[in-house]
Amino acid sequence: MKHKKVKFFKEALKSFKTSGTITPSSRFLVKRMLSKIEFKDSKLIVEYGSGNGIITNEILKKLEPSTKLVCFEVNEVFYNDLKKINHKQLIVLNTSAEDIEGEIKKLGFDKVDNIISSLPLAMLPKEVSKTIIANSYEVLKEKGRFIQFQYSTQFLKQFKAIFSKKVKLDFEPLNLPPAFIYICEK
Ligand SMILES: C[S@@+](CC[C@H](N)C(=O)[O-])C[C@H]1O[C@@H](n2cnc3c(N)ncnc32)[C@H](O)[C@@H]1O
Repeated sequence: MKHKKVKFFKEALKSFKTSGTITPSSRFLVKRMLSKIEFKDSKLIVEYGSGNGIITNEILKKLEPSTKLVCFEVNEVFYNDLKKINHKQLIVLNTSAEDIEGEIKKLGFDKVDNIISSLPLAMLPKEVSKTIIANSYEVLKEKGRFIQFQYSTQFLKQFKAIFSKKVKLDFEPLNLPPAFIYICEK
């Protein structure tokens, strides 16, 4: 566990502009994020920015046997680590979350039930974060949720503009730094 944290720290520091942090999410934050998801009856769950898999492993524990989890991770070191999880319901892509529409079509899916994201939206180029939010809305099924954590409420207006105001905020103090959770419903 300690070794995993050190490895994450080193890799995240090297690629700080896309990682946006140096510590993995706390178990309190992961638990709070996943409590917003309806796992039952989900066919496809997508995770953005899986890093070293701290959220991925917890999602896998909660998946129904027929549900698939697709992870988007641009960092090659993290991608190779995620592939080692080697779970039959898990598909790991070394692709940007911007490409969600095309990628899930290639896998034979039309819509996504829920998206869980730990992307550092505030650190990504504006166009990239805008595209990710818009494309995610497009691929979600009706009532599907986009769950995103951030260290500020700066994205509230942008999420509300796309998710027709169906956006709520939660807060997890036990994380470094404390984090806001955006719960956006289509
Ligand atoms: C804050 S870290 C989160 C890591 C881990 N999920 C956690 O919660 O501790 C953000 C991750 O997003 C990845 N990332 C950044 N931009 C991305 C993009 N456009 N598409 C997919 N992954 C991206 C980074 O490589 C990094 O692993």
